[in-house]
Amino acid sequence: MDVDEIRTQALARIGASEEIPALEATRVHYLGKNGVITALLRGLGDVEPGARPAAGAAINAAKDLIQETINQRRAELETEQIQSDLTSQTLDVSLPGRKGYSGSLHPVTQTLERIEEIFVGAGYDVVDGPEIEDEYHNFEALNMPKNHPARAMHDTFYLKNGLVLRTHTSPVQVRVMENREPPIRVICPGRVYRRDSDMTHSPMFHQVEGLVVDRGINFGDLKGTVTEFIGRFFEKDLEVRFRPSYFPFTEPSAEVDVMGPDGWREVMGCGMVHPNVLSMSGIDPEEYSGFAFGFGGDRLATLFFDVQDLRMFFDNDLRFLRQFA
Ligand code: PHE
Repeated sequence: MDVDEIRTQALARIGASEEIPALEATRVHYLGKNGVITALLRGLGDVEPGARPAAGAAINAAKDLIQETINQRRAELETEQIQSDLTSQTLDVSLPGRKGYSGSLHPVTQTLERIEEIFVGAGYDVVDGPEIEDEYHNFEALNMPKNHPARAMHDTFYLKNGLVLRTHTSPVQVRVMENREPPIRVICPGRVYRRDSDMTHSPMFHQVEGLVVDRGINFGDLKGTVTEFIGRFFEKDLEVRFRPSYFPFTEPSAEVDVMGPDGWREVMGCGMVHPNVLSMSGIDPEEYSGFAFGFGGDRLATLFFDVQDLRMFFDNDLRFLRQFA
């Protein structure tokens, strides 16, 4: 084949190369180390000396033209590639991005923190105690000896060796009285456990117990404290009523109701610490008196956030929890 034919064929092949790899193969075929044009240049030595310059010039011209045509074709193919990428991978920059959610405090935690804030502001200490309790602190020291009928109300989870999952936070008040001298002013928030589950009960829930012991503490102090707390917690002046009740560890005892949209709602139990409870924990009931109150932190959260089923707090459904972020 002579140079003209090779050149014509090469240009046709370049024009027909639809992909960059095919174009590259074409280049190697003509201009590579073992390429057709390269072979022609090598063959110049065999050409008759008089014809050599003209033949060389013709081959070099063909070589330059092929190289240049390849460069152009490559640029074309690259542009085509970009164009087709642009149309096949269209990107709607106006689409909203995928949201990352940031975590937030659990509604019960938020509620407990608010409660703590209110009492800390009134000079109370926040204390805690063990969730696995001995029967002495959970019952006996609270004036509930073995076989006391009030124990039945507690739906207790019994463990081995006289231990229980505490059924209320009242044992913490016993531990505080055993270890501190009056004046005592504490609240004890924490988890408690009872074998109970329905719309308003979950087997694990949170109580907040309050205890004040000092000289001359009376029921008026209790009423004032509880009423003030409820007003601050619900952020409005709700009607509050104290209903006579019974707890083995307080005497007299009361339950506290607040007026809600559809009537009275029970929010806590309270009373004057029973003299037996004081003396069992080493506090002289002739010298000191005290009041205590206890309520469900989650129960207050249902009222505050208007949640119908208390168990929703513990299902950990993010669609529910995100509403409190
Ligand atoms: N611990 C009691 C309960 O769980 C509540 C309470 C606490 C009542 C303190 C009176 C005083 O039922």
